[in-house]
Amino acid sequence: MTSISLSNVAASSAKADALVVGVAKGAQGVVLGEYLKNVDKALKGKLVATLTALGATGKEDEVTKVPTLGALGAPVLVAVGLGPERADGKNSGKNTGKNSASRYDRERLRRAAGAAVRALAGTKKVAIALPVEEVADVAAVAEGALLGAYSFDEFRGASKEDRKAPVETVTVLTELAKDKAAKAALARAETVAEAVRFARDLTNTPPSQLHPKEFAEVAAAAAKDAGLDVEVLDEAALAAEGYGGILGVGQGSAHPPRLVRITYRPKKATKHVVFIGKGITFDSGGLSLKPAQSMEWMKSDMAGAAAVVAAISAIARLGLPVNVTAYAPMAENMPSGTAIRPSDVLKMYGGKTVEVLNTDAEGRLILADAIARASEDSPDLLVDVATLTGAQMVALGSHTAGIMSNDEAVLRRIHELATDAGEQMWPMPLPEDLRKSLDSPVADIANMGDRYGGMLVAALFLREFVGEGIRWAHLDIAGPSFNNREPYGYTPKGGTGAGVRTLVRVAEDVVAGNL
Ligand code: BES
Ligand code: MN
Ligand code: ZN
Repeated sequence: MTSISLSNVAASSAKADALVVGVAKGAQGVVLGEYLKNVDKALKGKLVATLTALGATGKEDEVTKVPTLGALGAPVLVAVGLGPERADGKNSGKNTGKNSASRYDRERLRRAAGAAVRALAGTKKVAIALPVEEVADVAAVAEGALLGAYSFDEFRGASKEDRKAPVETVTVLTELAKDKAAKAALARAETVAEAVRFARDLTNTPPSQLHPKEFAEVAAAAAKDAGLDVEVLDEAALAAEGYGGILGVGQGSAHPPRLVRITYRPKKATKHVVFIGKGITFDSGGLSLKPAQSMEWMKSDMAGAAAVVAAISAIARLGLPVNVTAYAPMAENMPSGTAIRPSDVLKMYGGKTVEVLNTDAEGRLILADAIARASEDSPDLLVDVATLTGAQMVALGSHTAGIMSNDEAVLRRIHELATDAGEQMWPMPLPEDLRKSLDSPVADIANMGDRYGGMLVAALFLREFVGEGIRWAHLDIAGPSFNNREPYGYTPKGGTGAGVRTLVRVAEDVVAGNL
């Protein structure tokens, strides 16, 4: 893993294999921030002209490499685009408060650091001089750099050798280098980034290597490593306790399902948060089989479970004084002679019955069991994270998760926290009129309703299993959890670790007494 530190040496003299600087996109082309005065001076005032000659514009994700020929401490200067200058003429990346309009700038810093470090794969030591002014800016740069320095090469053979290794060491240049809060923020960024990387690894792992049994083992090992308690229910235990949803979805597979329950119980905690993550290790659709193209990335249908397992481990490592329980129901959704059929009725945990109209609407079945079970813990807040619907992508695109909740304040707050964490999410409604589309002529509820508003219908289904009076939020991360296009910012191809950073923020916010 990439190591990271802070330093207050001047950018012009920083010793590294490459020096990363941020440049803005102005009306007339590249714009240098004030903070680069000394770097530009060392380059005889020719940095803008040189970058322009090389075609740089300062747009986001743009990376331009310039040889420094001995003029700086680093042999290569890497200019990364920060995008358009702010309307007020500043391009400081400064954030003035929780709800300030400049919050976007912080995500730009995060993305710029990520894009630069990603482009510098193969380089050993990188110094980053971005316009950081506050502790949170430093944290954003650190996070972006660590998330950009990701690669997943475990399953490569001959092609492994041709791969450039991620950057080994990153130094974030800042006047805050000796600041206690900055050091703490750096440590937090490292812990959170490590968790995101873990979630990405799990998501990227081929489904034949991560059946429910193995997934449960890896999750349990990671949790124990973080000092947590773990309980794994196997198929026999699931049957004994009546988990009809998880068992039903898993019954078509040769690899039986699991339910992992991880608990974090720090001494000084008063509040209790439950996280639940969808862990379908592969979603073929079951007998309601998906077309080939839709199946291509269904190894990532466990990204929600990966997120909750990674997040609770990070929360424990950060020592946050809040009780957290993570539930990860795990199953493989396969068609076979033993698979559930459309029109079968399942008896869920807690006794409700569900008519399975479409076996591809399986995520809500395993989540319903977990939500019903988790409700017995009477948490102060219950958050589930799931790659639940294709409709999420139709509604919000591939990069923006949907947030749904039975509590308006929770809905708003999670939106704020996600934005602050650099995760694109958007609050969505739970229209009561859609609920009746889930009525079943034979069971308590059907697992499929109106096609229009499919993300909301799925959420309305889940809501039925939330215990009386429990505040609940549902994050549909179908699109954001997996990037099947080109990498951008700090987001690689493949698993993204979506949800992890927001869940950590949620726990922190509960500690702060807001959520
Ligand atoms: N895992 C899928 C949702 C999904 C689709 C995630 C694409 C990521 C990318 C989920 O299990 C599913 O198949 N949902 C169905 C529900 C429908 C049958 C009601 C869907 O969205 O088509
Ligand atoms: Mn499905
Ligand atoms: Zn699924």
